[in-house]
Amino acid sequence: MNVLLGVTGSIAAYKAAELARLFVRNGDDVKVVMTAAACEFVRPLLFRTLTRNEVAVDEFAAPAQWKPGHVALAEWAGVAVVAPVTANTIAKMVRGIADNLLSGVLLATRAPVVVAPAMNDGMWENPATRENIAILERRGVAIAGPGEGFLACGSSGRGRMAEPQTVFEAVLAAAAAAGGAAK
Ligand SMILES: Cc1cc2nc3c(=O)[nH]c(=O)nc-3n(C[C@H](O)[C@H](O)[C@H](O)COP(=O)(O)O)c2cc1C
Repeated sequence: MNVLLGVTGSIAAYKAAELARLFVRNGDDVKVVMTAAACEFVRPLLFRTLTRNEVAVDEFAAPAQWKPGHVALAEWAGVAVVAPVTANTIAKMVRGIADNLLSGVLLATRAPVVVAPAMNDGMWENPATRENIAILERRGVAIAGPGEGFLACGSSGRGRMAEPQTVFEAVLAAAAAAGGAAK
């Protein structure tokens, strides 16, 4: 399966490394797209080494082929998963904003999409996020987690990114539900 793994700017970005390993061990081809904020937490080198594929960050980097990177990756993906996904990227998905490589790929892809939210409990409970999540669910985006517990910001509540194994299983389920159409 071609797995497009999006990583956004959250402390939970470290969990995406374990998720990438689960896919690689499963025999999947994994390509990682990071936002600029994600690169503040973990470096592309981590994912490049784990997945043995180049990591994409810059929308305007010269593409390996003539097609714009966001379109090539969107078409390549059999399934797309964003883990962790920030409140910001969730809001962009809802509005169809495509102002970086990852949001452009998410807008262009026809593959099933899974997101694993990670954020402060106040952000998760904010009516804006509540409505955004409901809209994504209605559109068929699978939401994995978040869980409850100790949050990196120091508070305790709902907002912890689901464990990598849980997200992995949600992605397999989304791909199967898409009729095994996943490449
Ligand atoms: C230390 C730190 C931790 C953060 N953790 C989160 C988080 O878990 N969830 C979230 O939605 N935003 C978090 N943010 C804020 C995002 O990084 C910020 O909204 C950023 O613009 C998100 O960009 P992106 O969605 O393009 O990755 C954090 C910021 C900092 C400085």
